[in-house]
Amino acid sequence: MDFPIFHLDFMGDRLLIAIIAVLHVLINHGLAVGFIPLVTWLEYIGYKKGGQSEITNTSWDKLAYHLMTVAFIITTTIGAMTGVGIWFASSLVNPASIGSLIRVFYGAWFVEWMVFVTEVVLILIYYLSWKKSLKSIKAKAKHIKLGASLSIFSWVTMSIIVSILGFMMDTGSWVENKTFVSGFANPIYLPQLAFRTPLAALMGGSIALFLCLLFTKKNTEIRQDASRAIAKWMLIATPFTAVAAFWYHSRIPHLMIGNLPVAVGTMDFQLWYDLLVKFIWGALGSVLIVAGFTYFKPQIKLPKVLYIVPVIGMLGFAGIFERIREFIRKPYVIGNYMYSNTLRKEDYPLYKRDGLLAHAVFSPVKEVTEANKLVAGEQVFLLACSRCHTTNGINSVVEKFENMYSIKNGEPLNPDLMKNYIAHIENARYFMPPFPGNEKELGALVEYIKHIQAQRVPSEGVQERGIASVQ
Ligand code: HEC
Repeated sequence: MDFPIFHLDFMGDRLLIAIIAVLHVLINHGLAVGFIPLVTWLEYIGYKKGGQSEITNTSWDKLAYHLMTVAFIITTTIGAMTGVGIWFASSLVNPASIGSLIRVFYGAWFVEWMVFVTEVVLILIYYLSWKKSLKSIKAKAKHIKLGASLSIFSWVTMSIIVSILGFMMDTGSWVENKTFVSGFANPIYLPQLAFRTPLAALMGGSIALFLCLLFTKKNTEIRQDASRAIAKWMLIATPFTAVAAFWYHSRIPHLMIGNLPVAVGTMDFQLWYDLLVKFIWGALGSVLIVAGFTYFKPQIKLPKVLYIVPVIGMLGFAGIFERIREFIRKPYVIGNYMYSNTLRKEDYPLYKRDGLLAHAVFSPVKEVTEANKLVAGEQVFLLACSRCHTTNGINSVVEKFENMYSIKNGEPLNPDLMKNYIAHIENARYFMPPFPGNEKELGALVEYIKHIQAQRVPSEGVQERGIASVQ
């Protein structure tokens, strides 16, 4: 309400955040948190194999270095940019929720920022001093310790952020007592952390196993031994991932999945849900088969292409998991506190009394009149629906109404039916927040939706229309 509204009318605002954030999570888990400790461990194995006489076993060390090159390039470019991108995208799309989160988690983010900067410095030193570490046994031992510290720091950054993600799903007792500790130690925090940690190890292992085939030659000892070591890493992580997944899942039902019968209502989501279950078993199964064969039956050579299956499986699984997590949180962006439309639950009575527009700082109209109906309706749409819907693009509000009422060939929508529906929208579909405005604003919104159905005109966000013309 206190911010001008950024809006992408074709792709929708949700997709913008989703693309950037999912890419970031895949890189963070698959190439940093779950990957760097594995690289360090491989480096350590090489060091141990070097014995007293050599600094390290060169083949192992080279492989670890090559793996680290991939992690270094991707995490410091796309990884870092998408990390900053999440801040940009979410502050554009939902500045109020980021504002609230910063207020609650200021200290946590401050610590996270310091840990993150240390992590970046460590990754630079770890990678760029690799060649130098080959000068003496002492230097190598120090280098391995550096890798171990880097691994810990990258896990700590994740462990702080996961608390914030858990908080957004379920604020726990924070809504009543508003203390930092109750927010940080929210009920979903530990199960989610317990799940993400081995999941990251599995993702990192799957990628490393595949890369190991690219970086080593056929029928060499290093290929067989290193693949077996990586496969062992994956086999150890698998049961932890499975058990933690059940723990995590069992924590959601009481708090949120209780709402799922309604929230999963759409066919679309049902499909995603079934897919998730299939993906868990499919992805974990493919990991078990590929890693199991590699470890227990190294003499049987699996076709190379099979090694890409766990990579795709694990990345796909993590991607779907993020999508589900984001979805089931609806209608809230911060559980039980702020709706996804950026409005706080506790402010609703105020909007009902005075009208939504009266409190919308950047709205050009503050009250609905006969003359300004369409302008006002568009503002109500932007405020109440546009965080999740577009006019005619992805998840178009017009199309949703047309589908619901089985309207074909652009026959006009029925305003009375729509009004009735929107007035009780939260009962129809739990994942949508209640309509925040008054009677007149509801009328204006319906007029506006009918107008965009007839004219197919897009709605512009403030990035296009500018602030001057709004005021
Ligand atoms: C928190 C996000 C969110 C907000 C805010 C929101 N919606 Fe929705 N809406 C959705 C989602 C998600 C769907 C289902 C999309 C799908 O799976 O097809 C949906 C579906 C619908 C449907 C179709 C329901 C059905 O049963 O077929 C209508 C109509 C609709 N929305 C209208 C609105 C209107 C009008 C507003 C603003 C007052 C609004 N929505 C606000 C997320 C939202």
